[in-house]
Amino acid sequence: MNILFIGDVVGSPGRDMVKEYLPKLKDKYRPHLTIINGENAAGGKGITEQIYKSFLEAGAQAVTLGNHTWDNRDILEFIGRAKNMVRPANFPEGTPGKGIAYIKINELEVAIINLQGRTFLPPIDCPFRKADELVDEAAKRTPFIFVDFHAEATSEKQAMGWYLDGRVSAVVGTHTHVQTADNRILPGGTGFITDVGMTGPYDGILGVERDAVLKRFLTSMPVRFEVPKEGRFQLSAVSIELDRKTGNAKKIERILINSDHPFYS
Ligand SMILES: [Fe+2]
Repeated sequence: MNILFIGDVVGSPGRDMVKEYLPKLKDKYRPHLTIINGENAAGGKGITEQIYKSFLEAGAQAVTLGNHTWDNRDILEFIGRAKNMVRPANFPEGTPGKGIAYIKINELEVAIINLQGRTFLPPIDCPFRKADELVDEAAKRTPFIFVDFHAEATSEKQAMGWYLDGRVSAVVGTHTHVQTADNRILPGGTGFITDVGMTGPYDGILGVERDAVLKRFLTSMPVRFEVPKEGRFQLSAVSIELDRKTGNAKKIERILINSDHPFYS
């Protein structure tokens, strides 16, 4: 069972990269399941139904979200019918949407769980305890359990990797938009990376137009962050190979495509 996960898609540059490279990545890595983090896909903030559908049309089977879940009002209208989309499971009880989805791949099933960290992010329910609850539930159905942990602190993401080691197939970090070079298989068989990285503008700052970010740092004045539409783009992802019987990770490979790291088929 091969899973391709594409990290935080930012605005139209990120969406263009998905359209251009997903077919090529599928040829190269042969994923049975492709998952995209789409929480920044609509101009950097949230996701629309049209974009959600465009990801499925482009060849993904599931979309994960994060702290920008509610930024686009469109979400409230369609989240209930977006079967293959998960928002952080540890949002408060009664929040629209769901935090776990089961995706059928031929005769197999993969559980996809989205969680959000609490360090340097708004206070929400405990992601570790929510993970216990959902992993127990998912393990009754399938050995293939994939976790996107959307968190700011590298320590919190590593903690989640170790906490779930041996209980899930993979824990991948998202949100910080810079790919970390620590992809590994933990001793219990869980594939892990602290952050998959961002898919979008290559010459901005975390996917945002850099002059505005610089102005913010230089003046401390409020500025409006925009996603640059022109320029060089990048794609960040991981390819994870799982044992067909146990669901353990056998391999986790980083994928980074940009002008300095060209794609080789
Ligand atoms: Fe985020």
